[in-house]
Amino acid sequence: MRTPGTILVVDDDESLRSVIEYSLRERGHTVVAVGSGTEALQCVPEGFDLVITDVLIGDVSGMDVLAETKARSPETAVIVITAYGAIEDAVRAMKLGALDYLTKPFDLEALALVVEKALWYRALAAENLRLRGELEERFSFENIIGVSAKMQAVFATLRTVAGSDATVLITGETGTGKELVARALHHNSARRDGPFVAVNCAAIPETLLESELFGYFKGAFTGAVQSKKGKFDVANGGTLFLDEVAELGGALQAKFLRALQEREIEPLGSTAPRRVDVRVVAATNRDLHNAMNAGTFRSDLFYRLAVVPIALPPLRERQEDVPLLVTHFLRKHSKGREIGIAPEALALLRAFQWPGNVRELENVCERIVLFLSGDRVTAADVPDAVKARSSNASAFSVQLPAEGISLDEVEKAVIVQALERSKWNRAQAARFLRVPRHILLYRMQKFGLADARNDPENTSE
Ligand SMILES: Nc1ncnc2c1ncn2[C@@H]1O[C@H](COP(=O)(O)OP(=O)(O)OP(=O)(O)O)[C@@H](O)[C@H]1O
Ligand SMILES: [Mg+2]
Repeated sequence: MRTPGTILVVDDDESLRSVIEYSLRERGHTVVAVGSGTEALQCVPEGFDLVITDVLIGDVSGMDVLAETKARSPETAVIVITAYGAIEDAVRAMKLGALDYLTKPFDLEALALVVEKALWYRALAAENLRLRGELEERFSFENIIGVSAKMQAVFATLRTVAGSDATVLITGETGTGKELVARALHHNSARRDGPFVAVNCAAIPETLLESELFGYFKGAFTGAVQSKKGKFDVANGGTLFLDEVAELGGALQAKFLRALQEREIEPLGSTAPRRVDVRVVAATNRDLHNAMNAGTFRSDLFYRLAVVPIALPPLRERQEDVPLLVTHFLRKHSKGREIGIAPEALALLRAFQWPGNVRELENVCERIVLFLSGDRVTAADVPDAVKARSSNASAFSVQLPAEGISLDEVEKAVIVQALERSKWNRAQAARFLRVPRHILLYRMQKFGLADARNDPENTSE
């Protein structure tokens, strides 16, 4: 099958040039033929599928044309024509990235064959690039990566809300990518040219947080020798990222709620509120429902923040994301060097529970690259701590107290936790504990748990 292409022919030998040009045109290709390296360099940026260049072309050598083409348009294929016996030229050309070479004299059949091969290869490379682009687009949002259904759902939400001004509440364990998501939201919004201001509520003492957020006027309190803008003000026209929002104290929660509702702030010592145009994105690794039940977090503020809730799942609940993340981090930390990974090594990384989630996985990948001698990660390169926990089929570990413990009590506690996790759905809890349902029911009876809650499913047995 012939693929017509756009070809640049560079040769100072006019008769050979015409023969090549004619023969390629006859086969349906679009051809530009030039007689010098200088002219060739002017044409190179125009994006040819293929460049065929003689090595000896006077002013600028064919090697320079090759190098320049590869630098400007790496996907363009290059074929070099070398003099009979100049094998070192051919070797050098291949090292510089030529796809193939022809030795003079060659017949037109040989030329046609090499050209077909080069164009086919070029089409394949383009297809590959397109597929890779599609893959990355499907399985990422900005630089957040995930192939799992759970992350696909997160991306779908992000695509929908990024463009709006809706307040977003991001929840998830440490290292699940909350800040990454907040930044992605900003960069995909109409506010992308405005500021992105992050405030970590856990890092700033409660007493300073109010002035940090809302600012103050000179003389508002002892020590306020000059006015200071609050982060709300600094973020005007952009996004305010309120990290660890569960740490806001009661008084500040009220003030913050008012700012969210009225889109107005009142710096300390001011006499009139002022309008701010800020989109708020908040994040926490705490369970705000628990905090609300305990009375430490206002529910009215919660609902104001959670207009769009985004829950980032822990990595252990989306192990299928591990391979792509590993590829991404290996590439990121090897600075372009292609690094492969053996299936056994990947299996170990997949099986690990990752308490520090994606951040921990990234750190481990960075460390692996740092200590790697070759260009392939094997099981031996995986840190012992990861290996130990992965190879042990059960990642469950308990610290036994010195005075001993009742096995019955441990069993009961585990069963209660499984039931709570499944909202007292016994079939689900049994699956979770990997025991048949009648065994679970038997043990529940033994521990007096059978009547603890009504299970809608219970009637079926
Ligand atoms: N899905 C992902 N794809 C690529 N990188 C990720 C992903 N999730 C997290 N990361 C990377 O992991 C690291 C931790 O992410 P981030 O700081 O956003 O987590 P976090 O949820 O804010 O954690 P913490 O609660 O500890 O503040 C960052 O380097 C981030 O780039
Ligand atoms: Mg964070």
